[in-house]
Amino acid sequence: MRTRRCRIAASAVLATTLVAGLASCGQEARGGSRYQPDKGKGGTIGLAMPTKSSERWIADGRNMAKQFRKAGYKTDLQYGDDKVENQIAQIENMITKGHRLLVIAAIDGSALTNVLKRAADAHIPVISYDRLILGTKNVDYYASFDNERVGELQGQYILDKLELKKPDADAAEDKHYNIELFAGSPDDNNTKYFWNGAMKKLKPFMKTGQLVVRSKQTKMNQATTLRWDGGTAQKRMDDLISKNYGSTDVDAVLSPYDGISIGIISALKSAGYGGKRHPLPIVTGQDAELASVKSIIAGQQTQTVFKDTRKLAKQAVQMGDAVLTGKKVEVNNTTDYDNGKKVVPAYLLKPVSVDKSNTQLLIDEGYFTKGQLK
Ligand code: GAL
Repeated sequence: MRTRRCRIAASAVLATTLVAGLASCGQEARGGSRYQPDKGKGGTIGLAMPTKSSERWIADGRNMAKQFRKAGYKTDLQYGDDKVENQIAQIENMITKGHRLLVIAAIDGSALTNVLKRAADAHIPVISYDRLILGTKNVDYYASFDNERVGELQGQYILDKLELKKPDADAAEDKHYNIELFAGSPDDNNTKYFWNGAMKKLKPFMKTGQLVVRSKQTKMNQATTLRWDGGTAQKRMDDLISKNYGSTDVDAVLSPYDGISIGIISALKSAGYGGKRHPLPIVTGQDAELASVKSIIAGQQTQTVFKDTRKLAKQAVQMGDAVLTGKKVEVNNTTDYDNGKKVVPAYLLKPVSVDKSNTQLLIDEGYFTKGQLK
């Protein structure tokens, strides 16, 4: 049975089919018993999430645990408190306990090489969740959103709000807008995708002078925010305002994540923004966290990017279940997520831009109740 399945997979033309086929071939195709498809359902799935300081990760963990249990597995859900050494210890423990599969949202994408070598030696497959694990071949699949698209949605939102339609150096003579730029954590692989997506949209207007970064901090490594920390972003924004915006206002702030947006808005408010005479600038975000959606409704944060964590959890559960039961693993991207050692086959979901005009979508989708958004 196994041999026949392998032969069919090997003759498949499409890369995606081949990838899925290899997974379903188990031991023989991988030259080891990395996958244990014959064992079918059952056993424990290790879920290693980064932090509880953001609602989204709490929801991701809860949703995956629920769905894995429904699919016939036990779960061991751990949070690393944003400390790399905690996460490594938690994963080590999962390996020692003989968990069948690991689903990991890495705190530091490059710090798991040694522990994942141990997982590989114990034939435990690994799914990289939302954030790509880097620098190791011992990661099997990646479930995430189209991360570059997230950045594009943020950048395009700023352009639309400022009614910047096409790059035009002459137009800059009449009118320009001031913008400041924030990026995510430097150790999270997603950061550069969000940044690149946003820059694809904003850079042409920075070149013409229609968008001006008064701080001149236009490089990603000048704009990163370690561990996505709102307090760190607040301090940087305080500093940017005091050094660059004495006589003139900032019109837009690119923020890659709601927690960072909240810090930025606090700094802006402390500097006197928020009234009629001195309105808050456009501030983007990501994750549609409850506090930020409320802030959007209240007219403070301007935009966020909704990534339905229930759908991502579902995707990871389907992938994990398929790996463990020897079924075809569904992927839709086999080219873009090179982790330095391999291109990790991925399934990418679509992010959606949300502002005041369409928060109803979050209620319609059942992500929040009407009561929560009051
Ligand atoms: C990223 C993730 C974002 C956001 C951020 C901070 O990796 O893709 O959606 O949650 O971490 O937690």
